Amino acid sequence: MEFISVKKSMEKGNGQVNIRGWCYRVRNSNKMAFIILRDTTEIIQCVVEKSNVSEEIWNEALKVTMECSLEITGEIKKDERAPTGYEISVSSLKIVGESDTFPITKDQSPEFLLDNRHLWLRSRKMNAILKVRSSVFQAIRKFFNDKGFYEEHSPMFSPTSCEGGSTLFEVKYFDDVVYLTQSWQLYAEAMISSLEKIYTIAPCFRAEKSKTSRHLSEFWMAETEIAWYKFEDILKNAEDLVAFIIKYVLENNEGQLKFLGQDIEKLKKIKAPFPRITYTQVLEELKKDGINIEWGKDLRTVEEDAISKKYEKPIIITHYPKKIMAFYKPKDPNDPKTALCFDMIAPDGYGEIIGGSERDTDIEEMKKALIEQGEKPEKYEWYFDTRKYGKVPHSGYGLGVERVIAWLCNLDNIKDTIPFPRTMARKTP
Ligand code: 4AD
Repeated sequence: MEFISVKKSMEKGNGQVNIRGWCYRVRNSNKMAFIILRDTTEIIQCVVEKSNVSEEIWNEALKVTMECSLEITGEIKKDERAPTGYEISVSSLKIVGESDTFPITKDQSPEFLLDNRHLWLRSRKMNAILKVRSSVFQAIRKFFNDKGFYEEHSPMFSPTSCEGGSTLFEVKYFDDVVYLTQSWQLYAEAMISSLEKIYTIAPCFRAEKSKTSRHLSEFWMAETEIAWYKFEDILKNAEDLVAFIIKYVLENNEGQLKFLGQDIEKLKKIKAPFPRITYTQVLEELKKDGINIEWGKDLRTVEEDAISKKYEKPIIITHYPKKIMAFYKPKDPNDPKTALCFDMIAPDGYGEIIGGSERDTDIEEMKKALIEQGEKPEKYEWYFDTRKYGKVPHSGYGLGVERVIAWLCNLDNIKDTIPFPRTMARKTP
């Protein structure tokens, strides 16, 4: 027997079809059973009429419970009253796997759904989000592959920090300790002297103590590192990537975005270039709104939200104060108290989706910054070799994949962007 998806059977529109999936909803009377079957593509109403089927099939239909797995054969036809516009009149039905009483019923709390995440992944909401997630990964790979970049990887066990010590996860490593990687970047900077243009999509780990709707302790970062690229070049690459992801997701996932309540027309308007504004200008803008921030303090999420609200597109904030930036971000020669770095902030309060910079090539400057941040420069000797042996200007950035998915899917919380979220408060299932 050949099975087709629910969506394909709806496209066929009439005649006999064999479909299989899980029971999404079921209700019976003494003459009819209404089974809504779902597969990954759609849901469809299947009707079993006692008078139309053998006693054996009718008895099997009465055993159907929510979330049991099934194979169904029947005649499909259009029916305006059915939930997705089609109905199958069942001639044969087989339960493949019975289901105990399914624990997830209507109106469950978010925590209950997270405790039962392994089952909640079957919901139409999670199905839609995970399809968008898959497209975002595809889009990132396509963007870089089409430009001739190489996809490369760095170790997850790292002897040093990349983004400062406060969010490191320490791991016992035989008789020593190492850290789970915060970023691929330092290794990428070594690889570009061979490959020039590279990218990765990989898990990153941050021991974030904050319980916000934007932070995961394990998340995926898409990073790129490019030899010969100066600051202006990397800004352009970053905005092109984000514009490309949006275009790709709109082309491939319009149905899912609509299901999730996203405003498609608003997304369609987002094209590169994006507005650029310096950190200092942000402080001036915020001051007009009565928000006073001392120059030199990092922007917090409330401030990022306040400034991004003024724009319909993502914005690029450049030139943060050098002294609060990671050690590898270089001074701007035209304004040495600022660094040649940027953050991209998504609209609608989704926060920072990209962090990047040109990279410092001055070893002494970097050592000084590491010492100021309480790090041991000796640990970075291998990294300084990248500057000792034929250094070139280079730049890169990292995009928080889940932040982008949360934004595109119009979600309240980043936890729903990843099948099994890890946060300070959650490590199961
Ligand atoms: O700005 P970040 O810390 O940049 C870096 O790690 C650089 N080394 C990247 C590079 O230049 N190659 O992180 C990059 C992005 C942030 O803009 C944010 O979108 C995301 O990663 N991010 C997180 N996403 C979810 N949960 C967290 N805890 C995150 N921390 C950062």
